[in-house]
Amino acid sequence: MDEVERILLRREAIAKRVQELGEEVSADRDHSDPLLAVTILRGAVIFAADLVREIKGPVELDFMAVSSYGDASVSQGDVRVIKDLTEDIKGRDVLLVEDIVDTGHTIRFLLETLKQRGPRSIKVCALLDKVDRREVDVPIDYVGFRIPDAFVVGYGLDYAGRFRNHPEILALRPEALTS
Ligand code: IMP
Repeated sequence: MDEVERILLRREAIAKRVQELGEEVSADRDHSDPLLAVTILRGAVIFAADLVREIKGPVELDFMAVSSYGDASVSQGDVRVIKDLTEDIKGRDVLLVEDIVDTGHTIRFLLETLKQRGPRSIKVCALLDKVDRREVDVPIDYVGFRIPDAFVVGYGLDYAGRFRNHPEILALRPEALTS
């Protein structure tokens, strides 16, 4: 795999941090009403599957898919809903589970869209944060790792559909990115 520049995060480091994130989320909950974990398809699926098992108390699952136009590695700030939630989130405590926050456009769009539906609370948990790339300011309540500006894959994240099942998080060589 000569597209890969280096291993950024090994599976042990990911597992340890995901466990800590679950503890952080649990500590902020009163556990009376179920938490609704909204996983953003497809990249956050593997992270969410591990995270929710580290959260104490009842957790329900729902899913949403959004897309920027095209299959580009660069977000264009033009986000649309591909698959909407099944649940009504009015009055619910929602945890948005996202793989990576890059420019921030996707999370901003999701927060604006979901807040209009009247949840009791809505928080964001992102495994990765490329903070240097931010174009819009978005609140992220729980961050797994702040990472440098590199295109990363693995543990659910893809490049043109590939690498999602790789258990580590890898940085790709910039010259390997064609779109
Ligand atoms: P944002 O809207 O620019 O914050 O981008 C968020 C989305 O872009 C993420 O949910 C990913 O789908 C995708 N993305 C951003 N950076 C990467 C990366 O390094 N690897 C894989 N996908 C990425």
